[in-house]
Amino acid sequence: MTEGKNPLDRVLVLEMVRVTEAAAIAAANLVGRGDEKAADHAAVEAMRAALNELEIDGTVVIGEGERDEAPMLFIGEKVGCAQGTGPGIDIALDPLEGTTLTAKAMPNALAVLAIAEKGHLLNAPDVYMDKLAVGPGYPAGVIDLSLSPTENVNRVAAAKGVQPNEIIVCVLDRPRHEKLIGELRAIGCGIMLIPDGDVAGVIAVTNPDTTIDIYMGSGGAPEGVLAAAALRCVGGQFQGRLLFRNDDEKARARKWGVTDLDRIYQLEELASGDVIFAATGVTDGSLLDGVKHRKDGTMTTESVVMRASSGTIRWVKGEHRKLG
Ligand code: FBP
Repeated sequence: MTEGKNPLDRVLVLEMVRVTEAAAIAAANLVGRGDEKAADHAAVEAMRAALNELEIDGTVVIGEGERDEAPMLFIGEKVGCAQGTGPGIDIALDPLEGTTLTAKAMPNALAVLAIAEKGHLLNAPDVYMDKLAVGPGYPAGVIDLSLSPTENVNRVAAAKGVQPNEIIVCVLDRPRHEKLIGELRAIGCGIMLIPDGDVAGVIAVTNPDTTIDIYMGSGGAPEGVLAAAALRCVGGQFQGRLLFRNDDEKARARKWGVTDLDRIYQLEELASGDVIFAATGVTDGSLLDGVKHRKDGTMTTESVVMRASSGTIRWVKGEHRKLG
């Protein structure tokens, strides 16, 4: 590899879609079957096999968990068939983002992946992250996680030129968000409560069709890095702060190099440099259509792949035929 050359070869852009398609197709066979684990397992196996066909020297930095708890796609696992010779790439992945959504055949389950040059994705521990996001077009710094939800709604409303009660906020429907939801109700905001899938929830702020202005609330930290990678490509602002429920979680974070446990991470601290983000729909959703099985055995997929350095967003429709 030439020194200084961007290791994220543009050819990889379409290769990423193959990887998320493989995971989505595998999981789609289990949509609505009530078995989260089986759906997740199928997606993980398929994504791993597809990654191992790529000419990369890849390392999973956000994956299915730590080595002792995840047999495949664990953090630190090497993937790709060009170890030591191909481009060194860090990978954040979630082969099935929305296991429960898939098991219950509900919208917005995705297979997702982000890649970056080595050291450019935060090694987020598997803890919660407080998230705050808006789409593109706002002045820099319009959102601030150190301020209250009310203050953030007021700032976004003022920047948008509307009243605070006209703002729509997307929040994961969880008991832990009772106080947040109460505060937003007191302002009169519209609240879109989602049952799961906050990667799609955060990305929804970038799509005017969803009418969502702000994403707020806590969800998985690994999902926060994946959502940040997408926003790096598509535009928008994101802040995240790790949340710890006990000392064990704090120790986990320190193990991954987190020294300031209260830090508010800016978008570029979660995913920096050139980043490629890809997702394929498993079930229909606000971002993508899900996998469809046709009578003749053909399967159709819808994917999106975006690249931060070029600002390109490609929507890819796939037809996967059974030959013979
Ligand atoms: P899974 O696909 O691992 O089930 O994650 C779904 C999800 O809704 C994420 O999108 C979100 O970040 C996280 O779970 C929230 O965690 P919790 O269900 O504990 O509130």
